Amino acid sequence: MPEPRRIGIGLVGTGFLAATRARCYGALAGRAAIVAVAARTPARTAEFARRWDIPRAIDFESLLADPTVEMVDLCVPNALHRPLCEAAAAAGKHVVCTKPLSAYVGQDLATGHGDAEVASRDRRAMAALATAEAQSMVDAARSFGVQLMYGENWLYAPSIRRAAELLERADSTILDLRGGEAHSGSHSPYSRSWRHTGGGALLRLGSHPIGAMLHLKAAEGRRRRGTPIRPVAVVADVADPQRSIEPSRTAYVARGFVDVESHGTTLIEFDDGSRGNAWGSDTMLGGMESRLDIQASNLRLTCNLSPNDMLRSYAPDVAVLADTYLMEKVSTTAGWNSAIPDEDFCSGQLAMCADFVAALAEGRPAIADGELGLEVVKVVYASYVAAAEGRRVRLSEISSW
Ligand SMILES: NC(=O)c1ccc[n+]([C@@H]2O[C@H](COP(=O)([O-])OP(=O)(O)OC[C@H]3O[C@@H](n4cnc5c(N)ncnc54)[C@H](OP(=O)(O)O)[C@@H]3O)[C@@H](O)[C@H]2O)c1
Repeated sequence: MPEPRRIGIGLVGTGFLAATRARCYGALAGRAAIVAVAARTPARTAEFARRWDIPRAIDFESLLADPTVEMVDLCVPNALHRPLCEAAAAAGKHVVCTKPLSAYVGQDLATGHGDAEVASRDRRAMAALATAEAQSMVDAARSFGVQLMYGENWLYAPSIRRAAELLERADSTILDLRGGEAHSGSHSPYSRSWRHTGGGALLRLGSHPIGAMLHLKAAEGRRRRGTPIRPVAVVADVADPQRSIEPSRTAYVARGFVDVESHGTTLIEFDDGSRGNAWGSDTMLGGMESRLDIQASNLRLTCNLSPNDMLRSYAPDVAVLADTYLMEKVSTTAGWNSAIPDEDFCSGQLAMCADFVAALAEGRPAIADGELGLEVVKVVYASYVAAAEGRRVRLSEISSW
């Protein structure tokens, strides 16, 4: 067997997601290597390069000019996804872009706008702009002949991959999907305002179950009728329930959301009449919960990405495990816990990175592509319109806004 080609990666960003990527590509030694990292702050970039043994800490322009960089992985705030993706594609680099592919953060407003101007923008205008940006990213990749891969780890989680296999084997018709991602709230101050993130929990967390649902229904459609089953309409609700907590009372969930929801739910109608109920929420204690329930004609499946029962721990006192990391967002090591042995495996992050580099080495499309990212953006922003206008919104309406 010939050795697989090693893919040179240019990582952009040095924050939370970039560290996940550094771990995962690092585990693919021989098949992938991060050859350069670029971010905004030179000192932090240099420190990240040292920490992860990356040969070069450079700026974004130099990263694009580097002939050893074949694929650029964007781990930067949402507002930068489109410009950096299009610049990378124009430089002939394949691109990985995390969720959400695009977001409305006031791009069409005069400079100097504040939170209020962005958050009060008409939801239809937001949907039209965010969708146009995601479409433009997909088009740019196509016109420059590079792949746009969508960094949606849920598609690659072992529980969801196995569920997809079983659905195929049983030739199931999926009737109803229910799933969400929830925790006690992002600690990033940027997550609190529309101007910085382009939406709240539905965008930030709900993108994951929405992506998985669209993927599973598309696969079912290809198998059963030769074309993907697509989302056609949504009804939705968004809220900030934390506002009901009196300021003087202790709370263990994040507070202080400026103008975005800390809880969002959308009900997706697919073109075959089936439904997907997805949520994202910053209201849940007990660590990060990422689950997908699948009710099909001849099968019922529950995917537990997190927490799961691979390993349960019980510590009678918080001092026993002190500062030990057990799982994402869990606030105490005392009592019963899900001490997940390998989060990068269970969350799908590792298998996702493996698919991206294998896709390039083998000259085939990755499982998660830009088209899926575009469709997720449509569903999320149509949901914001549906919630604001209190009605069912068809995705086909977006093109006329
Ligand atoms: N499971 C998932 O798929 C998942 C999980 C978490 C986040 N995300 C996504 O990942 C993205 C980043 O989130 P994060 O949590 O990693 O954020 P973060 O920790 O705040 O890191 C953001 C990084 O972007 C860099 N950056 C900011 N402006 C830049 C610029 N103009 N040019 C180059 N780099 C710039 C920052 O560099 P400096 O530090 O130098 O300012 C920082 O390293 C978001 O889109 C988020 O939605 C996805």
